[in-house]
Amino acid sequence: MNENRKKIGVLDSGVGGLTVVKELEQLLPNEDIVYFGDNKNCPYGNRTADNIVEIARSTIGFLQNKDIKAVVVACNTTSSLIHRFEKDYPFPIFSIIKPAAQYVVQHKLPSIGVIGTELTIKTGCYERLIHDGNADIAVYGEPSHNLAALVDCGRFDMTAITDEITVHMNHLLEQHPVKHVIYGCTHYPIVGEVFECVAPGVQFINPALEQARAVADYLKEHSLLNDTAGHSFDIYMSGSKAVYEAVLQRLQIKTPAIIHSV
Ligand code: DGL
Repeated sequence: MNENRKKIGVLDSGVGGLTVVKELEQLLPNEDIVYFGDNKNCPYGNRTADNIVEIARSTIGFLQNKDIKAVVVACNTTSSLIHRFEKDYPFPIFSIIKPAAQYVVQHKLPSIGVIGTELTIKTGCYERLIHDGNADIAVYGEPSHNLAALVDCGRFDMTAITDEITVHMNHLLEQHPVKHVIYGCTHYPIVGEVFECVAPGVQFINPALEQARAVADYLKEHSLLNDTAGHSFDIYMSGSKAVYEAVLQRLQIKTPAIIHSV
C-alpha cells in the first residue's frame, strides 16, 4: 500500500484520546484514523512506569497490524515514557507532551500549572521538556488520582468530577496562583467546562491541538498526506460503546465512527 494512504493510529487509555481525534479531524480531513481505547486498563496514571511501557508496546503492536503510517500517543501518561519505546518502530511516534511544552516556551509564559495523572506528574516530563527550552519558567504539577477514571465512566455531570476538580484546582492555585494551566491528561478537556467554572481566572491549554499540528506538519514535510477524498474512523475499545458515543457527540466529532469491541 502507498505509504501516504496508510492510516494514523491513535492510542489512549480510554475515551480521552478522542480530544486529539477532534483536532486531527479539523487539520487532516482526508486521513483515515484507527483508534485504540484501552478502557480495561484505565486508569493508566495509577500504574507503574514499566507496566505502561509494556502496555504501550502491546497497543502499538495491535495498531501496526492495521496499515498505519504513524502512531499518535494521545495519552500523556504513555507519552511521559515515550523515550523508552519511540525509536523501536519503522514509523514516527508522536508525543502529546513535547508540542505542549514547546507551546509554553514559545509563548514565554512565566509560570505554568500542569494537572495530570499521578504517573505523568511523577515523571517530571512536562517540567523537563519545558526547562529544556527555558529553565526560567516555573512549572507546578498537580496530580489527580481519580479524575481520568471518573471521566472514563461517561457520567460527566457527576458531583465526584466537580469535587475532584475543585480540590485539585484549589490546591494548585492556593500554592501557586498561575494564570495558565495545561490539561496534562486527555480525559480532562472532556470536562473542560467544569474546570473553567471552578477556576474562571485561569486560561487552560489543551495539548491536543498542538499535537495535531505537529502531526500535520510532519506529514506535510514528509509528503505523507493522504490525497484521496473521504476517510474512515475505526475505534477499537474495551469499554462501553455508549460512553464512546456520548464523548463523540459531546466533542462534536463529525466523522462517523465504527466502534469495535476488543
Ligand atoms: N488519558 C490519559 C492521559 O492523558 C490517561 C489517563 C489514565 O488512564 O490515567 O494521561
